[in-house]
Amino acid sequence: MREIRVFCPATIANISCGFDVLGVALDSVGDEMVVRKVSKKGIRITKLTGQDLPLEAKKNVAGVAGLALLEASDYDGGFEIEIYKKIKAGSGIGSSAASSTGAVWAMNELLGRPFSKIELVRFAMEGERLASGVAHADNVAPALFGGFTLVRSYNPLDVISIPSPDQLYATVIHPQIEVKTSDSRSVLRTKITLAQGIKQWGNVGGLIAGLFTNDYDLVGRSLEDHIVEPIRSILIPGFDNVKSEALNAGALGCGISGSGPSIFAFCKGEAIANKVGESMKEVYQDIGIDYDVHVSKINTKGIRVI
Ligand code: HSE
Repeated sequence: MREIRVFCPATIANISCGFDVLGVALDSVGDEMVVRKVSKKGIRITKLTGQDLPLEAKKNVAGVAGLALLEASDYDGGFEIEIYKKIKAGSGIGSSAASSTGAVWAMNELLGRPFSKIELVRFAMEGERLASGVAHADNVAPALFGGFTLVRSYNPLDVISIPSPDQLYATVIHPQIEVKTSDSRSVLRTKITLAQGIKQWGNVGGLIAGLFTNDYDLVGRSLEDHIVEPIRSILIPGFDNVKSEALNAGALGCGISGSGPSIFAFCKGEAIANKVGESMKEVYQDIGIDYDVHVSKINTKGIRVI
């Protein structure tokens, strides 16, 4: 096999209580990439549509992640990459992670899978380092593993796959303003109180237990963030209204997707997820901000060949 075309899913990172450790892959929105094995050494981005991003491999997240893989590999040739961006940069649904994971996953397939998924996470994290200044794994891990993932530890890297209840849907609204992850990280405090910690890890445990036992109400009431959301929500116009309207429309819970400005809600069933999407839209129609809405089942497979 010389060439492969892949779907690289969007992802929701943090999932309210799990800053930098929890994430989930979506199904209805993602990028496409074509990756080609060539004899010329190195990585070349030969095409990039949908977003204005650098083509130079060392300045592009897919290029940087791919170079990290090449460096660890004994393969003597190189790769050409075409990127068809559907996920907007700075949207909070893992745009950079989709590109960096797509590159390394496809390269690994073309090389006959010399690397494990956890090694691919490590390579893709280099793309996140370029994009945000921090090599976080909570978007790249679910894109590569599918479903929900927990980064139990960064050092050593330990990623745990968490099952998803069958009827769980995510509704995501992306108000068309750009929030750079590096900016929304720089506003965060670096210290928390013990009282905040107690609430937060109670919710992380509750969310994981709810996902394992298909307890939708437990999933919903665990979607609380006492540390990051109170600060970051200030950067997102209409956040409080979107959240209360989503909950009124039947969402299990609602919070900031990744570093924002997208806002996500989890819902039981597609009908409620669509209704929640309508209620979120109305808030931005009233404020006069354009938006995209995505309603998606949980993507349990992650990146796939198309
Ligand atoms: N955990 C990261 C953050 C995700 O919230 O900064 C960025 O998408």
